[in-house]
Amino acid sequence: MSILRKTIEDIKEIVKKSGYEVETLAIEPSNRKDLGEYQLNDAMQLAKTYHENPREIATKISEELKKDGRFINVNIAGPGFINFSLSEDYLKDFLNKINNDLFANIDKKEKKKIIIDYGGANVAKALHVGHLRSANLGEALKRLARALGYEVLGDAHLGDYGRPLGFVVLEIQKMYPELPYFDKNYTGNYEELTLPIQNEDLEKIYPLASQKAKESEAYLEEGREVTTKIQNHERGYYDLWKKIVEISKEDIKKVYERINTEFELWLGESDAAEYFQELEQIFEEKHLLIESQGAKIVEVAEEEDKAPMPPLLFVKSNGTLSYETTDLATILQREKEYHPDEIWYVVDSRQGLHFEQTFRSARKAELVRKEVSLEHIGFGTMNGKDGKPFKTRDGGVMSLKGLIELVKEETLKRINSSIVLEEEKSSIAEDVAIAALKYADFLPYRETDYVFEVEKFADLEGKTGPYLLYSTIRMKSLLKKAENLNAKTIKQISGSTEREIALTLLELPNILEKSLQSRSLNDIAEYLYVLTSAYNKFYAEHMILTEENKELQESWLVLTEIVYKVNNFLLEILSMKVPEKM
Ligand code: ARG
Repeated sequence: MSILRKTIEDIKEIVKKSGYEVETLAIEPSNRKDLGEYQLNDAMQLAKTYHENPREIATKISEELKKDGRFINVNIAGPGFINFSLSEDYLKDFLNKINNDLFANIDKKEKKKIIIDYGGANVAKALHVGHLRSANLGEALKRLARALGYEVLGDAHLGDYGRPLGFVVLEIQKMYPELPYFDKNYTGNYEELTLPIQNEDLEKIYPLASQKAKESEAYLEEGREVTTKIQNHERGYYDLWKKIVEISKEDIKKVYERINTEFELWLGESDAAEYFQELEQIFEEKHLLIESQGAKIVEVAEEEDKAPMPPLLFVKSNGTLSYETTDLATILQREKEYHPDEIWYVVDSRQGLHFEQTFRSARKAELVRKEVSLEHIGFGTMNGKDGKPFKTRDGGVMSLKGLIELVKEETLKRINSSIVLEEEKSSIAEDVAIAALKYADFLPYRETDYVFEVEKFADLEGKTGPYLLYSTIRMKSLLKKAENLNAKTIKQISGSTEREIALTLLELPNILEKSLQSRSLNDIAEYLYVLTSAYNKFYAEHMILTEENKELQESWLVLTEIVYKVNNFLLEILSMKVPEKM
């Protein structure tokens, strides 16, 4: 149990001793620290339950509180608010405990297995801003859930199936008809062939082929045929598709690496294909498939629906399977192969309907055990100044690589040339850029849209990733300079800024819990700023290295070390790298 939680439990006991029972205490940090650091607001509610005067109840409780040395400055305000502060011994003890083990103040969860689906990059197609948001949120939620004790698997769930790739193969056939992949008489080994095409070419072929398919019915038909050939594992076509996936995947991996995102599972939509037959059989046996104009659909509307809920398209009229079907097959696959307790989908909110239809169908067909939760964790868009999804200057879709470069250009300008060598600059500017992008992405609640403002994100001052990195590096360098002082224990915690830092640290488990519950990182992002700013205020108030009172100096250094550790812990959850200097 966290130290905070334990103290709250003890206060509950104190309330009980005073003669009253409460389920959960109404206790909160107060914003009038001069009156008391915390406020206990239960007397008013208890007055109703026990038919007593709230001020009398508050008096009885505060008498008991006063007997416990941990609580000081106990006083009653208004109709029965109890204010109190924490004793210096309590805070010292707390700080020394978390300095030894940060997890002494973190509540661990029961064992649970979660699969998080937060990749969704499409093969042969450049990643874009939407993929950045999935990756940022998903990776951070994964790290958070893990830190709290869950077992979590991240799945890249690559978009490697379906018609767009048929078009890419078709276009390659048109460009290089002489390739052995299209030669029926070729008997050699495809794996040894090298393709005259690289990832950059694929990223150009993809939009070109999709455009052609839009313009020409004949091309569309050819593309469909090629898609079917690939899906039927036809020699040559299937092998070329595999090659494309391989080339593209290598690049996709590099992009995810750049944004500090790592998947345990690199499965794709195509990996669920082996479950299609079984899936269809389940739906058939349960009589869930309805013929409709040559297609097969699943009715998912429910009486309580307030908005229209169209049926899920299971098999299209041309015989191909839909995006919904690949997700259904993937659910079946995950249930069979991994047996998760929860599956989280970190995908753009605009796909809400898709997931609602998919989850309802999965429930109807009982693809997962009843207790398994399926959850769409949606997010808003990153917009341009015009309030529309962020675009390139010429109005095209902004690639993720382009976006990173844009921010990097800005962070590069702010690297301190007097301490960073020329050859280190690029890699440091990259770390700072990623932190800038991620932090800006985490600050608003996940479903809120926000505006891309590169100068603001890259700023060293204010609520930004670079500010957090810069401050954390400064803590580290202070600790390095004071290494020989061997600071180990907090012996005093007297100044009001120090107390403010200690009280903020005490709140950490609440922040982690809130973030996990809301599946959003905004509370952690905000907390990092509050803690770092409180520390910087403290840093400005004292000359730590030259302080002559050795007890005080040691306490300050240990406090620095704790904030440094907490910052690193949280930055690590947010998947932001702290460079050595910047
Ligand atoms: N590939 C899809 C896209 O780019 C996202 C996939 C999201 N995950 C899922 N299980 N449907 O839109």
